[in-house]
Amino acid sequence: MSKTFYITTPIYYPNAKLHLGHAYTTIVCDILARAHKLQGDEVYFLTGADENTEKVVKAAKEAGKETKEYLDEIIKNFKDLFEKLEITNDQFIRTSDEKTHWPGVVEIWKRLEKSEDIEKRIYEGLYCVGHEAFVTEKDLVDGKCPDHNETPQLIKEENYFFKLSKYTNQIKEKIKNGELEIIPESRKNEILALLERGLEDVSFSRPADGMSVGVPVPGDPSQRVYVWGDALTNYISALGFGGDDELYKKFWPGVHVIGKDILRFHAAIWPGMLLSAGLPLPKKILVHGFITSGGKKMSKSLGNVIDPIFLIDTYGAEAVRYYLARHISPFEDGDITLESFKDAYNANLANGLGNLVSRVMKMTQDNTGGLKEEKIEKLEKEKISEEFFQYLEKFEINKACDFIWREISEMDKFIQENQPFKIVKTEKEKGQEMISSLVNRLYSVAQMLTPILPETSSKIKELIKQNKTPEKPLFARKD
Ligand code: MSP
Repeated sequence: MSKTFYITTPIYYPNAKLHLGHAYTTIVCDILARAHKLQGDEVYFLTGADENTEKVVKAAKEAGKETKEYLDEIIKNFKDLFEKLEITNDQFIRTSDEKTHWPGVVEIWKRLEKSEDIEKRIYEGLYCVGHEAFVTEKDLVDGKCPDHNETPQLIKEENYFFKLSKYTNQIKEKIKNGELEIIPESRKNEILALLERGLEDVSFSRPADGMSVGVPVPGDPSQRVYVWGDALTNYISALGFGGDDELYKKFWPGVHVIGKDILRFHAAIWPGMLLSAGLPLPKKILVHGFITSGGKKMSKSLGNVIDPIFLIDTYGAEAVRYYLARHISPFEDGDITLESFKDAYNANLANGLGNLVSRVMKMTQDNTGGLKEEKIEKLEKEKISEEFFQYLEKFEINKACDFIWREISEMDKFIQENQPFKIVKTEKEKGQEMISSLVNRLYSVAQMLTPILPETSSKIKELIKQNKTPEKPLFARKD
């Protein structure tokens, strides 16, 4: 029986174009989604945009546009990028979508209220718009939020609070016993340490006059649901929770992939909300590091972003997927420069993979009739290495890639040491056997590449089917 697998990206703030950091999260999810499909699972993959935030209103104003017009344009831009990157999301949720998203937010609010976890209080604190969260003095450096380089606003207002503190122990227990798995271990420990200190209740609404977008609080339209309370709910509202919930029943709970900066929201606030609402917690939260550029988090506020479109136009989308999958460690920060990108491209795509395909295909085209159709069908059904999938299961995408590239170098080495192209001239049968075995191995490389470089994988399979050398190299060298 096929299993179901639900995977989500965070929903992105549409206050600027997406950069390589956002592309990273999305590509990681796409690789995992495709890998599960390859294993026969029924997959649902969600991504989207976090639109109910003042940042967006501000960005629209700065661009001299109406919020809606601004949003529609930038969302088109997001979708175009995802299409270019071959992202196979099943849905793109927009939290401004009153039909899809809002009923879920209303339903969850009502459930929190029913559990007596919502309470009105006066709140005074420092609010960082970059984080869309209250921060404390100790989070600041020289009075500014170091992540966003902004001075937080001092706010005093009446808000509804969510009694998150009440759930500290339950959340801790579920993370400890693995019911809610946090990967990697270091992030699990980080969140456990936070839980050890105890969670504080969180402000869960903002007065509507200070927040011009967002879902009105049920029964009190003078307030709107707090950005994160609203945003986190997307993971279930997208599946119809609060309305026609067929997908919800089928796919929830799922796996969230997030960056380390939003761990607390996902591993504390979100589980607290779900517990209060009487709903199952996510199965896993996979937490990745930051893509840095020049040693600093790539971010619009810091002005050091690399535009993925530039890389796609220069090197192709598959090269971007390759670099992010293999050369960024999923658990730590990884730096990227245009230089490191080009070097990796030339060494491992133009030379490594691209060259190997040309060499093997030239040998087989010149010296053999190619693989028989039945053989190809058999290869297509053959099980892909367990080891490869195990890496992906553990979220070690870079190691899964290393596994493939190890096979590529071993094949290179075999060709160099045994020179089948020479042997076939003197000992025809022996040489042909060697070549066929290389083609077989190339087919399994293509199989493993399916989730990572989907287009390259199909190209290689097609060449093998037609027993043809590529007309031009799969990856042209760049100088
Ligand atoms: N809107 C919230 C998420 C709500 S989810 C219910 C948000 N949006 S974001 O656009 O700022 O960031 C989205 C994701 O991109 C986060 O996981 C964040 O960690 C990731 N990245 C943003 N910059 C990044 C890098 N430089 N490197 C890697 N990922 C980073 O937070």
